[in-house]
Amino acid sequence: MKIAVIGSGYVGLVTGACFSEFGYEVVCVDKDINKVALLKKNKIPIYEPGLEDLVKKNTSAKYLSFSNNLKSIKGSKIIFIAVGTPTARRGEGEADLKYVFQVCKDLSKLIDKNDKPLIVTKSTVPIGTGSQIINLFKKYCPNLQYGVDYNIASNPEFLREGSAIEDFLRPDRVVCGVANYETETVLKELYRPLNLREAPVLFTDIESAELIKYASNAFLALKISFINEISDLCEKVGGNVQMVAKGMGLDNRIGAKFLHPGPGFGGSCFPKDTRALYASFKKNKLKSTLIKSVINFNEERKLNMVKKAKMLLKKPYKGKKVAFLGVTFKPNTDDLRESPSLVIIPELNKLGVHVYAHDPAYNKSFEKIKQFKKVKWKKSISDVVKGTDMILIHTEWNEYRGIDLKKIKKLVKNKVILDLRNIFNKNELIDIGFVYNNIGQK
Ligand code: UDX
Ligand code: UDX
Repeated sequence: MKIAVIGSGYVGLVTGACFSEFGYEVVCVDKDINKVALLKKNKIPIYEPGLEDLVKKNTSAKYLSFSNNLKSIKGSKIIFIAVGTPTARRGEGEADLKYVFQVCKDLSKLIDKNDKPLIVTKSTVPIGTGSQIINLFKKYCPNLQYGVDYNIASNPEFLREGSAIEDFLRPDRVVCGVANYETETVLKELYRPLNLREAPVLFTDIESAELIKYASNAFLALKISFINEISDLCEKVGGNVQMVAKGMGLDNRIGAKFLHPGPGFGGSCFPKDTRALYASFKKNKLKSTLIKSVINFNEERKLNMVKKAKMLLKKPYKGKKVAFLGVTFKPNTDDLRESPSLVIIPELNKLGVHVYAHDPAYNKSFEKIKQFKKVKWKKSISDVVKGTDMILIHTEWNEYRGIDLKKIKKLVKNKVILDLRNIFNKNELIDIGFVYNNIGQK
């Protein structure tokens, strides 16, 4: 079966590579000429563990190919739309579907009714997008009949960056929104290789599938915000938020995952999807206190982290040096989208603090980020901490967990650590002579 994936970003590239791993013939299309040129040379434009090997293996086995030309989708039984759905610049935070609709417009001229293609939205799209796509096709190719010459479906992804391949090959569930049995049959065939691993494939209507994605992401963002709020209480009244989370997580109605407090959630999904879901409530004149409060709490939390840094740095802030360890929104990715560091670092600079940063995924593009224009980048941990007044752990990269604190102690100017991911043990650090603060401990 031939499959096309339009949009070779974090979502599309992983989707295409994994389907080719199942032995399907997959063409990944992208309008970005440079990106496709890199991919054709097995150069992966994103940092995703295991993706390079998967692409290399399946490209040389001729299962996977890349193209700039949308015409290369010809003969595809299934066409995935995996282009970006960023937050719209104007409005209440709704998703901007201009890329999705542009692809549909381009596709409508290329549909060959003999292929009877199934067009599947893989991108996270607001509830009701499916029917908008059908209307678009009716407008752009009236001679094609929906349900006869082509079908559409929703198949949202639940991939986490840094573990995207694992999440694809061993999903908790696959969600397929379909409008007829024929479409269900095609998707059942597509995901058959996963059934061997008993991955439940849920078939439902298109609207429910679209909403499952938003509701899942917003709920995870709510869960993280909840433990972040509880950690604020622990800092005032005592108790250790990690123990509270452990105790909560043992209740299988709650579950232990996504109860790690931190500087707030970032990434290309939670912030965008909570805003888009809130916009759906607003558009339908519904009050949504929960989702709105998650959005507001998360924004405020980043500024609260600056307050914690100021308390440890002590006045005068001007001229003080902070070693900022990790800038990405989470470990095992190079993605900076909506990372809390984009707020925290400029706030420190405003105080006259010099920020020296290190990140294992550092690449030249980090220097182009406007919020990092005053940052001095250091290649090694010992270089970045040298002569600093405080070490701030922002991203819980494994490289930082094993830091030799006795060695670090000799390099810093002041032995102060603000650990926003609780990667260190408080008592151990105090024994070595550090002033230490973290999240969720008095
Ligand atoms: C994004 C969102 O993060 C995710 O929530 C949504 O489900 C899908 O879009 P991601 O893969 O991170 O996923 O997007 P991005 O990294 O921006 O990649 C989108 C790709 O589509 C880019 O490579 C872009 O060049 C390509 N594109 C965009 C096209 O090929 N054609 C278009 O018309 C628009
Ligand atoms: C998320 C969803 O997990 C995934 O299912 C969806 O498809 C895309 O969005 P991703 O954004 O890649 O994946 O990263 P994730 O691991 O979910 O972390 C998101 C943010 O939450 C990060 O900033 C992370 O630091 C934060 N987080 C996560 C916490 O602060 N605490 C946690 O316990 C878990």
